[in-house]
Amino acid sequence: MNRRHFLHAWTASAGFLAALLLSGCGPGGGGTNSATLRIGEFASLTGKEATFGQSSHNGTELAVMELNAAGGVLGKSLELITQDNQSKAGESQTVVNKLIARDGVVAILGEVASSRSLEAAPVCQNAKIPMISPSSTNPDVTKTGDYIFRVCFIDPFQGTVMANFAKDTLKAKRVAIFTDVKSDYSKGLAKFFKERHAINGGTIASEFDFNGGDTDFKGQLTAIKASNPEALFLPGYYTDVALICIQAKQLGLNVPIFGGDGWESDKLMEIGRDAVEGTHFSTHYHPDVGSPRSRQFVDAYKKAYGSSPDAMAALGYDSAMILADAMKRAGSAEPAKVRDALAATRDYDAVTGKITIDPNRDASKSAVILRVEGGKLKYLETIAP
Ligand code: PHE
Repeated sequence: MNRRHFLHAWTASAGFLAALLLSGCGPGGGGTNSATLRIGEFASLTGKEATFGQSSHNGTELAVMELNAAGGVLGKSLELITQDNQSKAGESQTVVNKLIARDGVVAILGEVASSRSLEAAPVCQNAKIPMISPSSTNPDVTKTGDYIFRVCFIDPFQGTVMANFAKDTLKAKRVAIFTDVKSDYSKGLAKFFKERHAINGGTIASEFDFNGGDTDFKGQLTAIKASNPEALFLPGYYTDVALICIQAKQLGLNVPIFGGDGWESDKLMEIGRDAVEGTHFSTHYHPDVGSPRSRQFVDAYKKAYGSSPDAMAALGYDSAMILADAMKRAGSAEPAKVRDALAATRDYDAVTGKITIDPNRDASKSAVILRVEGGKLKYLETIAP
């Protein structure tokens, strides 16, 4: 009896069917012939950047639930198989290999952090399985190859946005930069910020490095203070950023501190409290300023998870919806056909704005600038590309 008939014989027992599907059917158990369309997701559900993975996963899961409630894709249900990389370097490659070789997924969604997307992208490219990063902004991610896509803007744009913000809003000419050398995102964003800042006629007061996960930044912050900057650009992730803001305050470094999307987490305010008040950062989305599509999403998200969605949640949702749209347009879940359909995505009405996949497999989208005020993230402005 082949597997298909076997499954038909047991459809009366939904529980058994679910157990069978979840147990994994060995290599190639998924693929385009299986009863469901298996989509792989890798995310930092635990560890240092846990809120990135959790938010992104919630958004992705909501999209899959909505798609399945509406009848699935190509007549099949989507089955989302999620792997946690624990925010650890080295893990993304391992788990993505498993998703492809063991689970036979037809596409991969992930990651938020650029370094982890850069780790997994060659695995997907070699296996010719389309990968869509919801929110990794380092330009190198999609340069890995023609199977690698993203649904967000890239850091040359984000760096430009924040350099212009330093000039026009902060009126800061002499800027210090503090970079996480363990993060491709941080290094890239620092570089692109610097390039535009120089074009804008600004100067660099000093440049220092830290390692993401450090807890004592006082040595570098003392030196940064001595360099007498008018503002501090901090392209980091939320936990490090919160600790740096606290220690900067303790050392009397009272200049505006600003950064990019990596700041976005409720933990920023939870850890940083007073020390992050009045800071600014750029990101992809704010639930207050969306289109009708965005308002629909915010309502559904609140119902499902009891909280407001952040940028990672919205982009996670968009990544799954763009994949489903590509499968429908391709009329197939075959990876090569889905790849071509993804590349042909034009003007898709996404929660985070219209998405057109450009020849580099990136999306050109607006950024928003947020300000921490009263322990909350307040929307300031939208900057178009
Ligand atoms: N853009 C960041 C990176 O590439 C990740 C991120 C996206 C963080 C969106 C927060 C919000 O590493």
